[in-house]
Amino acid sequence: MKKIICMCGIVAVTGYKKALPLLINGLEKLEYRGYDSAGIAVINPDTKNIICNKAEGKLTNLLNNISNKHIHGTVGIGHTRWATHGKPEVKNAHPHIDSSGKVAVVQNGIIENYQELKDKLEKEGIRFNSDTDTEVIPHLIQKELLALNKLNLEKNGSTLLVALRNVISDLEGSYALAVLWADAPDSLVVARKQAPLIIGLGEGEFICASDTPAIANFTKIILPLEDEEIALLTPLGIEIYDSNNERQYRNPIHLHVSEQVIDKKDYKHYMLKEIYDQPDTAKYWIEKFLFKDSKTGQYQIDYPFDTEFFESIERIEIVACGTSKHAAMVGSFLLEQFSGIPTNVFYASEFRYSPPPLLPNTLTIGVTQSGETADTIAAINMEIKRRSSMSDEKYKPNLVAITNRMESSIGRQISNIIDIGAGVEIGVAATKTFFAQLLSFYGLAIKFAQIKGTQNNEIINQLISELTKLPPLIEELLEKHNKTSEKLAHDFFNIKDVIFLGRGINYPIALEGALKLKEISYIHAAGYPAGEMKHGPIALLDKKVPVISIATPGVVFDKVISNAQEAKARDSYLIGIAPECKGTEIFDYLMMIPETNEWISPLLAIVPLQLLSYHIAAHRGLDVDQPRNLAKSVTVE
Ligand code: AGP
Repeated sequence: MKKIICMCGIVAVTGYKKALPLLINGLEKLEYRGYDSAGIAVINPDTKNIICNKAEGKLTNLLNNISNKHIHGTVGIGHTRWATHGKPEVKNAHPHIDSSGKVAVVQNGIIENYQELKDKLEKEGIRFNSDTDTEVIPHLIQKELLALNKLNLEKNGSTLLVALRNVISDLEGSYALAVLWADAPDSLVVARKQAPLIIGLGEGEFICASDTPAIANFTKIILPLEDEEIALLTPLGIEIYDSNNERQYRNPIHLHVSEQVIDKKDYKHYMLKEIYDQPDTAKYWIEKFLFKDSKTGQYQIDYPFDTEFFESIERIEIVACGTSKHAAMVGSFLLEQFSGIPTNVFYASEFRYSPPPLLPNTLTIGVTQSGETADTIAAINMEIKRRSSMSDEKYKPNLVAITNRMESSIGRQISNIIDIGAGVEIGVAATKTFFAQLLSFYGLAIKFAQIKGTQNNEIINQLISELTKLPPLIEELLEKHNKTSEKLAHDFFNIKDVIFLGRGINYPIALEGALKLKEISYIHAAGYPAGEMKHGPIALLDKKVPVISIATPGVVFDKVISNAQEAKARDSYLIGIAPECKGTEIFDYLMMIPETNEWISPLLAIVPLQLLSYHIAAHRGLDVDQPRNLAKSVTVE
């Protein structure tokens, strides 16, 4: 089956104000979710027709298209698309409209059985205009509306709601949908299943979107739609129904301050700004989660779960994707080596289809900055399901989620949650959220070490004391390496391959350094545990392939230096992420980091690597914040 996969951002408004500026503002804030094409549809209040406009490529192309058009309706929908199959062409851009031109739909997600539905509709004489899965939806809704018309139902939002409810019962897959019907010109119907959708409540108007930044300028009061809910919105109010068609009533919630701030300040790109946010990320963690016990004078970690929760845990499994997986790998190292708890990390996408055998007293941690990554959420759900079915208490699910988005699907689903509080991250390449995820794991490792007694107080205090010194240390690193990495970028922006080496706690940092470089500069980069080089990858080395080696004093320092020597002997240019100390003189170029306790070295080593990747991509003139083929939250499997 040819699969059209779309992650995308959707926005929809109804109310008394002109819809277009709200839609555009929302789409600008959602462009990080996909930028292959964009489109809007608004109901013309005079003619009761749908005005639809779409453009291939970034939102700016759509803006050029509509700049001298008068689109003045108050009800509309918009979409920004990310596709992996099917070319990003105008015909595949959303909104999609049925043959009568009266129903318009935007969708985020994937309709898995679309081909079957499409074949059926085509046999009935419906002509399709796109290659997308989404287009079946407006055609199916129109068919339902015709059937409902025969039952003499009024042409209003409630009828559209019934039609959409009937249609979604035939849809397989995941979706967030917003639907317009020209015959119910003040109504909007929205629905979600395994894809996020949040309703922002204004005065006499509502805006729905895939993510809070699209809503933040409009209102601070939101109502996230729960899974499998459907809602009718008109300027007069909202009706929400669950999958059993029961009307739902619940209180709205307030947006976090951090959810509202999306300001590039004077930085050229969000990514650079977000790298520079990291001293504040550290301050936030220290202020929010570290406190001194007044009786013992001992620092404690203030995570929102009780001591008993930690006591019962004998092993840990972590599921995550991409950068979050790299943070989890550092976490796993800390949890095993510092706290003595056996820990395994899994790609969420692999865990889903080959989960390990169930073991008792296991803590499952899901790490996802967006809180929406489909594979991570599905892996967590699968674990909840298989553990909940066990009769023995020891096998029951124990869950923790680490996320940056408390309003996200994972944030609402899991009660033991560590809010990394990094503030909205717009650059597609994760930087400050990685840093914040690392800090969360330091907190967990300290908590487990205290409760299990695997480290003495002196060692724990020493680690905590090092963590409290982070904000000025990171500031110094930024100061020092912004310029040095810009200079290095000038020399290296044309390279084709880069190898990143690290060992022990810094092996995941080598992986993360390589991921950062490849995703924004499109230069091939690979991270290896330094000791593995001689088992194959060393064959790649010559003078055209620079090697970046993370060498921080500690257990494996001498080994890392020897591995770097081996690379040098193959003519590679050697860049060291290391302190200035005996051994590091072998590097052709030293990106100096201070000599600290080895446990915290990943938090320092990552900063020059982020800056170097940023400057190489910027020097190549690339779209750093929105690299090709990527999107910020991967809401499809
Ligand atoms: C990070 O730079 C990536 N763009 C990507 O690997 C990301 O970390 C991954 O998709 C997981 O996202 P999440 O943390 O929102 O789950």
